[in-house]
Amino acid sequence: MTKILRISRRNQEKSEIEAAAEILRNGGLVAFPTETVYGLGADALNPRAVKKIFEAKGRPSDNPLIVHIGNKKEIYKLAREIPEETERLMEKFWPGPLTLVLKKSKAVPKVTTGGLDTVAIRMPKHRIALSLIKKSKVPIAAPSANLFSRPSPTLAEHVIEDLHGKIEAIIDGGKTKIGVESTVLDLTTDPPTLLRPGGITLEELEEFLGEVKVHPALKGKKIKKMDFKSPGMKYKHYAPNANVIVVEGDCRNVKKKVQQLADKYRKEAKKVAVMTTDKNHSYKADLIKFVGREFNAIAKNLFKTYREFDEEKANIIIVEGVENKGLGFAIMNRLKKASCKTIKV
Ligand code: TXA
Ligand code: MG
Repeated sequence: MTKILRISRRNQEKSEIEAAAEILRNGGLVAFPTETVYGLGADALNPRAVKKIFEAKGRPSDNPLIVHIGNKKEIYKLAREIPEETERLMEKFWPGPLTLVLKKSKAVPKVTTGGLDTVAIRMPKHRIALSLIKKSKVPIAAPSANLFSRPSPTLAEHVIEDLHGKIEAIIDGGKTKIGVESTVLDLTTDPPTLLRPGGITLEELEEFLGEVKVHPALKGKKIKKMDFKSPGMKYKHYAPNANVIVVEGDCRNVKKKVQQLADKYRKEAKKVAVMTTDKNHSYKADLIKFVGREFNAIAKNLFKTYREFDEEKANIIIVEGVENKGLGFAIMNRLKKASCKTIKV
């Protein structure tokens, strides 16, 4: 049975979080909100508990997990050969949506890191997440709390949809603030390498660090299997059931192309959904959803909109691309990973 722990009134919080922490300490699984998306947590140092995460999600065992900590000092127990810029990065961006990849210490079991010699660590910026980690007194391994390859959950309802009956508890803390996952930065290379764009932008990191390498897979280059630094890179991800087509380019051309595609697929009797960033659009399709105009709003609504389109049984989702800068880089990355094709116009 999965307990749903609703946290709305502050006075309830203590006992709910204590109950969840106890489950984690005893090797169970608890889904909890962070500032990015909901995570599916287990004691990161307990191999049996961590194994259950992979089973519940149906996640391939070579895809490593992020270890969440509640105190910056914890990093010294989990990692070794910590490069000089790490502390500056922690000071500037933690707690927050930045995950740092470092050489792992012996304390971290291999199942947590998918067999790698490195460990990904972050300190989330969320009252419930931090208090859960502190109360449980263990670092918490947590991937996004969705079934493998499904869109990440930004509401407890999404977690319930995917994982109810498979885990011990779900903490419902409402809608997550950012909506896309953390930025993953590999500090074992010099300069550091961006492995996944996310809540902290590449521009912010470049300004702070001077130089940041962007992994070639993020630039759309075809990569040999061996060269996937972050195993998550090689899998289809964040995807709704419907086929996603992303159209990118000049705004007016994009709109024309989106409508052409919608017309074409509707003629083939497909249920066509359009995701737009223009409130005053004039699209004709079976389902149309406005996700917001600014990057912040789009990121926040993206995964939720995919799930809504799935519920309404869309066959094809046509999405307007966004500019590949700032948070737009993370948005485009998630759109492309979920899509069967990207069309440039
Ligand atoms: O915002 C987030 O990061 C959320 C919340 C719950 O914290 N978590 C999340 O976890 O997105 P997950 O497991 O869905 O994505 C983790 C990503 C994967 O792409 C994985 O391959 C990469 O981080 N990763 C983890 N450990 C790594 C390592 N040692 N080296 C390289 N990449 C790693
Ligand atoms: Mg994920």
